[in-house]
Parts: sequence; structure tokens; C-alpha cells
Amino acid sequence: MKEHLNTFEQYKTPFFWYDVTLLENTLKTIKTESDKYGYHVHYAVKANANQPILRKIEEIGFGADCVSGNEVLASVQAGFSHDKIVFAGVGKSDDEINIGLDTNIFCFNVESIPEMEVINELAAKKGKIAKIALRINPNVNAATHHYITTGLQENKFGINMWEMEDVLSALERLKSLQLIGIHFHIGSQINNLDDFKGLCLRANEIQEWFYKHQIIVDHVNVGGGLGIDYDNPDANAIPNFEAYFKVFSDHLKLRPKQELHFELGRAVVGQCGSLITKVLYVKKGVETNFAIVDAGMTELIRPALYQATHKIENLTSNKAENRYDVVGPICESSDCFGKALMLPETQRNDIIALRSTGAYGEVMASQYNLRTLAKAYYSK
Ligand code: LLP
Repeated sequence: MKEHLNTFEQYKTPFFWYDVTLLENTLKTIKTESDKYGYHVHYAVKANANQPILRKIEEIGFGADCVSGNEVLASVQAGFSHDKIVFAGVGKSDDEINIGLDTNIFCFNVESIPEMEVINELAAKKGKIAKIALRINPNVNAATHHYITTGLQENKFGINMWEMEDVLSALERLKSLQLIGIHFHIGSQINNLDDFKGLCLRANEIQEWFYKHQIIVDHVNVGGGLGIDYDNPDANAIPNFEAYFKVFSDHLKLRPKQELHFELGRAVVGQCGSLITKVLYVKKGVETNFAIVDAGMTELIRPALYQATHKIENLTSNKAENRYDVVGPICESSDCFGKALMLPETQRNDIIALRSTGAYGEVMASQYNLRTLAKAYYSK
């Protein structure tokens, strides 16, 4: 990061910085590892929807996984082909469903019978058949923060297996729907690959259930969720995609001709982004010092919302270390990026990098306190 200091000093802080070479290398790795098995990757646009990033991802040939009508439109704008776009989400509005239908997307990942009825009705009005995948709640627990685990019966996501007979009879009625897939997603920032093995085993049971009901879908979509190393962004800049895809190859039983789809977000873009901020003031506290920086929870809400930690580096100072709480300017005590951190002696105007903010950083920014949205800059 230090090698970019001269560049960083030219821009007004705070801003997001994207290492495009790292993004490209990550994409190449994913492509190589997923191609080994003929797997299809749809990038989860919710992680970062910047056009230059979407375009890079489209260029390598991945599809897009969207959760709003605007994400579908942003994907089309970035060049994603309509037949590589999937659209998920528990609460798709009529307008958003119409965007999906007008775009002729590959598939709607549906989450309830009432939603299926609405998609059916809107598709019928247009004289179209909407292709759908059933998002099934696998009731698999993943070791991650409880705000971002999604595959449990208590979560709002997906259709539970006990409702599946009703879903099948609804499908017989709803003539403008065509079932083409089943979909799962167990959560995000998952670093224990055994959790994905658990998903595979459960998916095998669920496939068996469908088989007994004379249904073999064209594709299985296992969602995303692979985590990144927030503590060591340089040592582990690219997640272990080789091991990740191998878990599915080893444990998921696909039927002949069935295709496997993934929806990775964080693992694709997380490490290529950093939030660059400047120290405004250093203030003495009782047991620590406060380094007050010009970025806050408005630019990066993950620490306040999930107790997430992002590696913090002072790029300017080489002095001996001291103890700091690194905090933002927002009028909330939760506006804190790190407590009692050992950092080189820090002073006003030092440039600080908050690492691994490529995923769920810029997209979750707000204008709370009437702040200006931070800009994005790219390494090339
Ligand atoms: N597919 C579905 C259905 C999802 O709900 C998600 C993420 C993904 C794919 C992509 O998951 P990933 O590969 O990025 O883990 N804002 C939180 C993360 C929320 C994730 C929501 N769903 C954070 O900052 O940690």
C-alpha cells in the first residue's frame, strides 16, 4: 500500500481505492479453478456494483447475481448478457419483476409461493414464460456472524422443505412459470470449508426428494459465501478457490447434464478495495489516544454493524508504535474502526488505509450527517 502514497496524496480523502491488477488476478484464478469442473460463476453484484468492476467481471465471462431491479439494469449496462443474469431476493417488487421479465433474464430465484404467483401473473400479462429456481432453505448452520447467516429455518430466506409439496402443486397451476433450478445460500464470510460440505450433503438429500417426485432440474445453484482473510490481506490476497470448488466436486452429487452455479461476491472483490482516509486530529484519551479520521461509518459500516475488523495501516508514519482507537467523525459511538490498536505514532494529515473494503464497503455507504459520498479511484 505504501507504494501508492504519492498517488493517494493527490486525491481528496476519504475515497475508495481499487487495485485492478489484483482484481484481474483474482478473476483469472476463479476462472481457472471453476473451469476445471465446468462450473458457472455469477458474481453477486451486491458486493460492489461499480461499473468498472462489473465490466472487468463481465469480460472474463462470469454472469451476474442481482437482488434488485437496479442491479439488473446496472449489469445490463456493464455488458452482462441477459441470459447470464439471475435475480434473487425475498421482496421483489412488481416493477423489479417486470425489469427482469423485460430483460429476459436467465432465471428468477424465487423465495415463496406468493412471489411465484405474482411472477406468474406478470409474465402471463407479457405473454412470457418466466424461468425460476426455487431458493430452498437448507437449514444448514454456517459459522459466521448471526446477521449474515441465511440458511437456517429461522431466517426469512428461502422456501422450507416442509412446504415443498405445496410448491409443486402451485407449479402445476402457474402455467407461466418454468422450473429450471434449485438454489441455496447458507451465509457469507464462511472460512470453514466444512460448512460448504454440509451444504452439499443436504443438497444431495434435497435432490433425492425431488427425484422421488420425478423432478430433475437443469441446474443447482449453491450461492456464495466464501470468506476472505481480513487480518492478512497481503498474505492471502486471493482466497483458496481451488479448495473451495473441490469441496463441491467431491461432495455434491449432480445428475447427468445438471449444471452447477455459484454466486460469489466477497471473495471476488473484497481484497481489491481499500478505504483511504486522512487523520484529522489526534486526541488524548485516558487509556488510549484517539486518531480521528475523515472516513466514518458512512463510508464503511461493517465494523459498526457486524463488529467486523478491517486491517488499519498508517501509510505515512514510520515512527515507534503507540496505542490508538481509530474513530470516524460521525456522531455515534459505534463509529469506530478499531480499539486499542498499536500503530506508528500518528499525527494530523497522516494517510490511513482501511484494507479489504472492496466488498460491502462502497455499496453500503450512506449520507448520514449529510455527508458527501466518497469517490472511487482505480489503479489503472
Ligand atoms: N447469494 C445470495 C443469495 C446472497 O444473499 C449473498 C450475500 C451472496 C450470494 C453473496 O455472498 P458472498 O459470496 O459475498 O458472501 N453486508 C454483509 C454481507 C451480506 C451478504 C448478503 N448476501 C457484510 O458486509 O459482511
